Amino acid sequence: MKITVVGAGAVGATCADNIARRELAEELVLLDIKEGIAEGKSMDMMQTTTMCGFDTKIIGSTNDYAKTAGSDVVVITSGIPRKPGMTREELIGTNASIVKGVTENILKHSPNAIFVVISNPMDTMTYLALKSSRLPKNRIIGMGGILDSARFKFYLSHAIGCSANDLHGVVIGGHGDTTMIPLTRLATLNGLPVSNFLSEEQLKQVAADTMVGGATLTKLIGTSAWYAPGAAGAILVESIVRDEKKVFTCCVSLEGEYGQKDICLGVPVVIGKNGWEKIIDYKLNAEEQDTFNKSAEAVRNMNAVLSTLTL
Ligand code: LAC
Repeated sequence: MKITVVGAGAVGATCADNIARRELAEELVLLDIKEGIAEGKSMDMMQTTTMCGFDTKIIGSTNDYAKTAGSDVVVITSGIPRKPGMTREELIGTNASIVKGVTENILKHSPNAIFVVISNPMDTMTYLALKSSRLPKNRIIGMGGILDSARFKFYLSHAIGCSANDLHGVVIGGHGDTTMIPLTRLATLNGLPVSNFLSEEQLKQVAADTMVGGATLTKLIGTSAWYAPGAAGAILVESIVRDEKKVFTCCVSLEGEYGQKDICLGVPVVIGKNGWEKIIDYKLNAEEQDTFNKSAEAVRNMNAVLSTLTL
């Protein structure tokens, strides 16, 4: 198994570190456009092998896509992160041309790869990767919902006073402060609805905190988060390479499912060796469906910006 992570910034390097520690590949390539950074971070990670007990070979590359040849899975994290006060959507002008270029370069050397897109605005970058690569839809997966669902469980666990590991909860829709939809109705603590433990007002607060979860961290750190985004990318890759068939919320191409088409949006999917293999229908109620449609409208407006850019 060969995996490439494009972008050796904080998210890309953390994702690579998690992939290496889980020994998901014999060979892991970390590539960045900035001279030396991928080689340096790879060497730093390789120097942890004797302490962390993994054997994955990590290769750093400054923009030499030949080194990525024959990758089975490619994670794209390239682009600029947001600064405090910025929305993910404000990154589109810079990141769209980067993501398109990376997709094309990767395809030249790894025509059979499954793509995981993390770059923001993620829903639009996933749509762009799908359109520009012309790959079968199952091989293009946007990572946002896994992270947002993890943050949802974090805030739920704090409000309830329980272990986040005992919770099930998913966030669907877009990966934006106003477009993500924490499904509080379907969240459970060991099978019991979380509404058994929290008032409607508390649940609303948990949902609101989840939606600005990334922005809260950006304000505190001064740039966007990386530990949880990197780990989320790695567990998605793990379900692909180990063919685990885990159900994760991922941004995928919809063709009528959840009432939407010609858009990539976060819905629960089965992840296995073929990429995303199946969409799970959560049977949204009328209010949730309405919110989902509004989320789709916002993402569609963002996708429309792509045609105004010179890529
Ligand atoms: C976040 C970025 C990675 O939500 O989108 O932290």
